[in-house]
Amino acid sequence: MYCCPRTGGPLKDWHSVTGQVTYPMLDGVPVLLVDPVALLSSHPPRSPAAAEATRCGLPDPITPHLPPSLFGAPSGFGQWLTSLGEVSPDSIAAGFAAKHAPPGAALDVGCGVGTMARRMVTSGRATWAFDRSPDAVLLAKGLLCGTLQQTVIPTSRRGLRRVKVPFKPITANLEICIADASRPPFPPGSFAWVHLGDVLDELGDDVGDVLVACEGMLKRGGLLTLSTSYGAPTSASETSTPPEEELLEALEGLGLQVIDQQDRVPQVSRDFDRGYRVRFMHIIAARKK
Ligand SMILES: C[S@@+](CC[C@H](N)C(=O)[O-])C[C@H]1O[C@@H](n2cnc3c(N)ncnc32)[C@H](O)[C@@H]1O
Repeated sequence: MYCCPRTGGPLKDWHSVTGQVTYPMLDGVPVLLVDPVALLSSHPPRSPAAAEATRCGLPDPITPHLPPSLFGAPSGFGQWLTSLGEVSPDSIAAGFAAKHAPPGAALDVGCGVGTMARRMVTSGRATWAFDRSPDAVLLAKGLLCGTLQQTVIPTSRRGLRRVKVPFKPITANLEICIADASRPPFPPGSFAWVHLGDVLDELGDDVGDVLVACEGMLKRGGLLTLSTSYGAPTSASETSTPPEEELLEALEGLGLQVIDQQDRVPQVSRDFDRGYRVRFMHIIAARKK
């Protein structure tokens, strides 16, 4: 499935004749970046146990995988979380894929700790996932594939609780690599479902390139799901114009037909035993014509 991110040419034993490069491994994970050596020199090998969630911008590696109703927050806020049940940006996007994506392989772009990749595999799809952050990829692999059986979650600024990873290891149908979404290492038309979860806001000037790349990796009739928050400075107030208008136009311009969307989907993340953040996300499903 993988191809050379420099040229799009084939890879044999991680070697690209056209790209004149052999792609290296970092702790058993292929580094399929245009300049893999630059990454290796700034990231010496680390075990999954040593890859910290905070390096991935997350307070802990486990709660992003859990529905908010399991967070156990106090009183009225806890009741609101319970009322959400399984609702989260990931569950809505996965629901769109179950409804609209054709059968076939799935790709989680900018996978973070692999929350959507886990859903993709458990829904029965052959799944690929990548992130440009080696820490995120090593954590995702450790958590999902069972090499990390325990981890820690912060209880307070100074406290940590050791917890068992609360899901079964995935033993097949999942491939993870380090790659960049603007030069992904996959041939055109490879996937029935591509997901971009909360990645666009981090891309700066690369948004256009990444959307083009995602469209290119979809087969005809395939589905792109994406979630975006209303980033600063515009907030999700009733009077503000959502930046998504521009995004919807860009998707249509790329030949992707927006077929489903849901706005103001709460994403709850947990900082400590008493710290929570809520963001409202826009989830979009667009089909390649
Ligand atoms: C906010 S996190 C979202 C993680 C996950 N998709 C989720 O929904 O929980 C954004 C992720 O995108 C990754 N990312 C940002 N730019 C990227 C790029 N150009 N290529 C690949 N991954 C990227 C970051 O490393 C980070 O893990």
